Amino acid sequence: MPAAASRSLPVIPRATSLRNSLRLAANPIPVLNRYLDEHGDTLVMYLGGVRKTLLTRDPGLIQHVLQKNHRNYPKSPLSLGFARYLGHGLLTSEGGYWLQQRRLIQPGFHRQRVAGLTELMSSVIEDGLRPLEEQAARQGGAVEVAAHELMTRLTFRIVARSVFSSYLPEPELQRMAELLTAVQAFYVRSVRQPYLRPWFALAGRFRHHDQLAQELRQLLLGYIRQRQAADPATPAPDDLLQMLLDARYESSGEAMTETQVLDEAVILLVAGHETSANALAWMWLLLAQHPEVVSRVQAEINQVLGSRSPTFADLPRLSYALHVVQETMRLYPPVWIMDRQAAAADEYQGIPIPKGTLISSYLYGVHHAAQLWPDPEVFRPERFGAEAGAQPPFAYVPFGGGPRQCIGNQFALTEMQLLLLEVVRRFEVEWVEGQPPVELQPLITLRPRHDFRVRFRLRR
Ligand code: HEM
Repeated sequence: MPAAASRSLPVIPRATSLRNSLRLAANPIPVLNRYLDEHGDTLVMYLGGVRKTLLTRDPGLIQHVLQKNHRNYPKSPLSLGFARYLGHGLLTSEGGYWLQQRRLIQPGFHRQRVAGLTELMSSVIEDGLRPLEEQAARQGGAVEVAAHELMTRLTFRIVARSVFSSYLPEPELQRMAELLTAVQAFYVRSVRQPYLRPWFALAGRFRHHDQLAQELRQLLLGYIRQRQAADPATPAPDDLLQMLLDARYESSGEAMTETQVLDEAVILLVAGHETSANALAWMWLLLAQHPEVVSRVQAEINQVLGSRSPTFADLPRLSYALHVVQETMRLYPPVWIMDRQAAAADEYQGIPIPKGTLISSYLYGVHHAAQLWPDPEVFRPERFGAEAGAQPPFAYVPFGGGPRQCIGNQFALTEMQLLLLEVVRRFEVEWVEGQPPVELQPLITLRPRHDFRVRFRLRR
């Protein structure tokens, strides 16, 4: 095929990016949407008025970067810098080391392993919902919940118990969650507002957060050592920690070192809860405004389950519930943008990509593009069922794509489908009137700027 003619990309001048930098820092999404609507699906702009980046919502280019030519597009230093606090686990490593770890850990996330974790997920969900049922029963049949806070609590417990299965005392769980939130929030600030770094250094903020990260690692190390010291005669639990401890490198037959196991455990806790918590919070926002969708989920539950709880084997027959989860993540992709950097000069359909180019794959933009998704702002789970069209590859990418696609996607879909089903089995979902509109807060993940309340009303 002849090479496509070289074409230059529209550039949002540095001055325009600078003029918009406050609005970009507060909520980049409307600004990026406007740039793309006005100039086309791929353009060049300056993040914070400083860092030149190629921004795209073209699924073909995103596929090129994440999959077809992925070797040329390692993660950017911005994404990898998080390793300072989290260590070098899957999410924060690159190259040969990443590939070796991915091969080792991948089997732990196969469908059958996830199936084995569903009972545990259900019991965490059950424990979380029972007090709400009791409270609702005491107060006339309904309870109001802070959606994001509740979902964060449940998803953190699900992933922490999937990794460590053993009993985790509530105060320790609470502390782990606080430490993770604190180091993440600080890292995002230091990247988004680089001009504050000298002040952070002077004020000892880096040191303070290094200490918090250290405290988290010590806590987790305690659990790992407990497990290593367990009596070999008693059967080991079938959890993700055991999977990490038992895994052996194909080349050497060796196990991971204790530090490697710790790094991977930290990453699973981080990557494995905030994303799902955000998706689930957005789901309750949508469902509180779409009672007809809740009724259809309920009808499916009646038909497939009657009055019993769902098991892993039931999930494929509860496809409408899955479509609700999928459509939620189309509208609100928890990972809304992803960075890569060109290792060598490249070209995509005539667009020259110089060495070192920072590429931002704008997943939110792809999921809201009208040419890919008719009526893109409308919540319609049917898009993923009978109505499903022939979208091009990478038009739906909540879990990324290519070799670095989310390793926990099956885990996440399972926990979210289960949570939806378990809530709808018990409750009607209602919006609590009088709250301000819920705004987007795109940090590393896309969360609601302020938490909001929904009312769970006991079914008769
Ligand atoms: C709705 C929930 C989730 C979403 C939307 C999500 C999304 C993603 C995305 C987009 C990536 C790719 C990032 C990149 O390539 O730069 C990723 C990677 C990853 N995710 Fe998830 N994730 C979710 C849940 C989970 C869960 C539950 C776990 C673990 C229990 C998990 C573990 C990981 C890990 C370890 C990676 C790094 C994989 C690698 O680089 O090899 N995620 N996730």
